[in-house]
Amino acid sequence: MDKTTYTVDVPDDRFEVLEAIRKHGKPLKLMLVGDVDSGKTTLLMFLLNSLMEEGVDVAVIDSDVGQKGILPPATISLAFPSSEVSAIGELEPSAHYFIGTTSPAQYVGEMAIGVKKLADMASGQADVVMVDTTGFVTGIGAEMKRLKAELLRPDFTLVLEHSDEMKSLKRALSPYTRILTLSVSDKARLHSPEERRAIRAGKWRDYFSGSGVADVDLREIVPTGTGLFHGSPLNVKEKRLLALIFDWVVLAGWYERGYTVVKADSGGFPRHFNRSVLHVVDFEKLSNLLVGFVDESGLCRGLGILKWINFSEMRAQVLTPLIEEDLGEVVEMRFGRIRVLENGEELGLLRREEL
Ligand SMILES: Nc1ncnc2c1ncn2[C@@H]1O[C@H](COP(=O)(O)OP(=O)(O)O)[C@@H](O)[C@H]1O
Ligand SMILES: [Mg+2]
Repeated sequence: MDKTTYTVDVPDDRFEVLEAIRKHGKPLKLMLVGDVDSGKTTLLMFLLNSLMEEGVDVAVIDSDVGQKGILPPATISLAFPSSEVSAIGELEPSAHYFIGTTSPAQYVGEMAIGVKKLADMASGQADVVMVDTTGFVTGIGAEMKRLKAELLRPDFTLVLEHSDEMKSLKRALSPYTRILTLSVSDKARLHSPEERRAIRAGKWRDYFSGSGVADVDLREIVPTGTGLFHGSPLNVKEKRLLALIFDWVVLAGWYERGYTVVKADSGGFPRHFNRSVLHVVDFEKLSNLLVGFVDESGLCRGLGILKWINFSEMRAQVLTPLIEEDLGEVVEMRFGRIRVLENGEELGLLRREEL
């Protein structure tokens, strides 16, 4: 199910934007910016269907990792629609960039790079490239929009606002793009966090349905996006010493300038140590962690859910819809920062530095 459905019942200013797009030279890039539920995706679908009807080749980049329409979630996706769509989730994607979380505040670099990378792929293949974005428009969210604009240099940025709540953001974006301000439709409907979670759950479920467990050899596929697996593995003596000092069950550890340790707790007492020397990861944070399978060109071939790691043999069991053939193209298994079950239940977000 998608949050947004296609409608032509839109405010009049949308027709003016359409006219501006028609008049502008091609290829043309545009970015949509607005608060959560301000009508970005509704606007995107309106423009998309209208332009396609006129024979314009369009590309869509869905970078709204908080409420992704195109599968899979927690990635940025590129699609070239071939016919009118009634929901953005219908679009058949052609490439993805892995972000690994639904809350990208600590992933602004990846967000900007991912959009730029996919926009570069789209240019030359489409007359109009449209970028849908998250509703994260304050604080770091605003910085993220600026970075995207700075890298992408959209010809137009369509900003949806009720009154003038986007004023500062528009100013920050203005050196990089031409701003077109649009009203929020009075039909735009707010969704509660529960509704949003339920929509995301459906997306996770759809994506992972029919998945199987792949046995991943981490000697061949490089684990990235984590401090784990960096340096020389600790020997039995070193692990035993750490276990004794901190009363941990030490499952794995490495040394490279400092120690990184994967542990399970036995006692609940507080441990004091210098975090710049010892980086500690709770084993349970790794269970059902989202990972991305990345190919040589840095694109994400698909997602997986980490079910088990055998540290001594450097193997991981990962639930994924990817088949052998896709996995053969994978060079990296990138660690995400959300734990999720294949039934769609989100178990929690992790901070970037936790892994
Ligand atoms: N012009 C409109 N007519 C009917 N419903 C609308 C319109 N604009 C937005 N909505 C509804 O409001 C909700 C939020 O719009 P959406 O486009 O999903 O926002 P965003 O992408 O900014 O989060 C959706 O349920 C959408 O169907
Ligand atoms: Mg949207």
